[in-house]
Amino acid sequence: LKQEALEKVSKSENVQSLKDVRVEYLGKKGPITEVLRGMGKLSKEERPVIGQLANEVRESIAAAIDTKQTRLEDEELEKQLEAESIDVTLPGRPVRVGGPHLLTSIVEEIEDLFIGMGFEIKEGPEVETDYYNFEALNLPKGHPARDMQDSFYITEELLLRTHTSPVQARTMGQKDGNEPVKMICPGKVYRRDTDDATHSHQFTQLEGLLVDKHVRMSDLKGVLNAFAKQMFGAERDIRLRPSFFPFTEPSVEMDISCKVCEGKGCSVCKGTGWIEILGAGMVHPNVLEMAGYDPKEYSGFAFGMGPERIAMLKYGVDDIRNFYTNDIRFLEQYHKA
Ligand code: PHE
Repeated sequence: LKQEALEKVSKSENVQSLKDVRVEYLGKKGPITEVLRGMGKLSKEERPVIGQLANEVRESIAAAIDTKQTRLEDEELEKQLEAESIDVTLPGRPVRVGGPHLLTSIVEEIEDLFIGMGFEIKEGPEVETDYYNFEALNLPKGHPARDMQDSFYITEELLLRTHTSPVQARTMGQKDGNEPVKMICPGKVYRRDTDDATHSHQFTQLEGLLVDKHVRMSDLKGVLNAFAKQMFGAERDIRLRPSFFPFTEPSVEMDISCKVCEGKGCSVCKGTGWIEILGAGMVHPNVLEMAGYDPKEYSGFAFGMGPERIAMLKYGVDDIRNFYTNDIRFLEQYHKA
């Protein structure tokens, strides 16, 4: 019996069949249990001999099963580990790395440039009151120049701001009329325009304002010249042309000279050799007065530009919608390495 059991143990190839052997030989219905149960029927002399023998057989079978079980379990664990192991020498899968949006990069570049000249960055609400968006900027209700900026009204008094100039009106208004202001305000603005290659109902502006005693137009020209040269290259010139904005007097538009070059990467420049990049002027006395400044004592200049336009000129982007459709093939070209 022992021999037979031990043979089965050594033939068992897995934990389950070993379990079956254990039940077959050592279980409640197995031969050894049966022998032990029948002990009562044996004579006094036979009992210890048979008992000892049965126990011996049982123990050696049990020991054999235990040993084999440990081995089988080890083997199975080994197999599992092997199957689950990671081959660290395999090449990795590349991870796509993102980067700042071209518009974000341009705005940051312009910000850095003006921070370098001592300007502070200010922000304001995109849902603006009629007062700050128009009235405080010398655009009373019914003023024809309001039509220059078709607006999204929310109520009669609230609208999506059409420019970032209200941030300037708010900042001046906080100063009690006797402190200088030197700020730029980047942000989103909204106009009721039909989207095409050069128009977008939502775009970005970055405006600047400097208010102090004795601020002159030559200060404006100096700051804008420094900006243009740092942004587009030292060889570029600027020129100011008369223009009109209700909140500045006199008002100008600034052109930069075209890059002298040919082929790809050159900014598009038709005919005159100059291209318009921003609007500016001396802050209108009415605007200063409404913000609490005495226009006889204080003066200031302001300018406003569209970072999309700056980016389009700088990088030769031909459609403003590229900034908003988020085509990865467009965006990736401008990720800095
Ligand atoms: N706010 C003007 C616009 O949206 C830009 C501008 C700002 C012009 C400051 C002059 C001075 O068109």
